[in-house]
Formats: sequence, C-alpha cells, structure tokens
Amino acid sequence: MANDAVDPARRRLLAGTAGALGGVGLAATAVPFISSMQPSAKTQAAGAPVEVDISKLAPGELMVVEWRRRPVWVFRRTQEELDNLAKVPADALRDPDSAESEQPPYAKNPHRSIKPEYLVMLGVCTHLGCSPQLRAEPGELGADWLGGFLCPCHGGRYDLAGRVFKGVPPPLNMAVPPHKYLSDTRIVIGEDQETA
Ligand code: FES
Repeated sequence: MANDAVDPARRRLLAGTAGALGGVGLAATAVPFISSMQPSAKTQAAGAPVEVDISKLAPGELMVVEWRRRPVWVFRRTQEELDNLAKVPADALRDPDSAESEQPPYAKNPHRSIKPEYLVMLGVCTHLGCSPQLRAEPGELGADWLGGFLCPCHGGRYDLAGRVFKGVPPPLNMAVPPHKYLSDTRIVIGEDQETA
C-alpha cells in the first residue's frame, strides 16, 4: 500500500520529448495498438524516425519518447542493474534467449540492446498492451526479485532487459524497435543500425 502512495520508480521517470513530435504527451496506462486506419500527414509524421538526445539521462533513469504513437523507453541501466540482470536464472524466463520475441538482430543478446548500458524498448506489455512500470529495486516484489518491470494490469513481470518471467500472462518479451546511435549521446528510433 505504501508503494502505491509514493512510487520511487516514478520519480526516476523522465518525460522525454522528441524533436519531430514536440511536447506530445503519453497516455497513462493503456496503449491501444491501431487507433485509425486513415493515413494522414500527422500519422505519417508519427511514423517517421525520431531522434533522441540522451545526454541528460543519468544512470538508473528511464525516459519515454513517442514513436509511431507508442511509448519507447530509453533506460540507462546502472552497473549494479546490469550485474543483477546477469543473475536472473534463465529457467525463470519464458523466452530467455529472445528466440520468439521481437527485436532487431543487434539486440538479440542477454541485455537486448546495442550497448549494455542503454535499453531501448517499446514500453508496451505483450499481453494486452498496458504500460509496465519500472521496479528496479531488488527485493521490491519479493525476495527473489532482482529488479525489472511490473505490468499493473494483470501482474506481468519482466526483468531489466524486458524479458518476461514464467507464470504471468504476457507471452513474449517486450519488443525492441529498430534504432541506432548517431553519437554517444544521440540515438535514432525507427532506423536500423548498419549491419554491413
Ligand atoms: S496487459 Fe500487461 S499483464 Fe495484461
């Protein structure tokens, strides 16, 4: 109950904005997939790649940007969080190697990202599309909790790489969108990193 009143994870959540989208706000929890079948200039703009400045993102912080009308998280993991991620037992996860889940080939690794420190991921639960919350503190959701994400709708649990645990409703790991680095502090969401 106390956690509901003051959520320490929320204090660390930065509302990011993307240049092309200005100050578009994000819906609170439920994120519908397709809201309109009618393409428009606005819709096309929403589908364009989005450039994000991550220079002010401190370790342990998560920022949200909108891409294709969906929330994309950029989560800068601390070394401790990366260490905890490495301790998650593979047999506790439904798809530990992300074999069934959606991500570009360059993010198909244990940390599910190009650089271990930065996780770029669609903040959308793979069950029914709610927006999970960061619960980074070990022990926060039980003695064996090493930090991760909790979906408030039906209790979906994911580790700090968005890999879903067994025994909860979501069928897959959260999706990683195409993205690439322009520099150490600028990324583009919606375009793939060169692989050749
Ligand atoms: S929508 Fe996330 S657990 Fe159901």
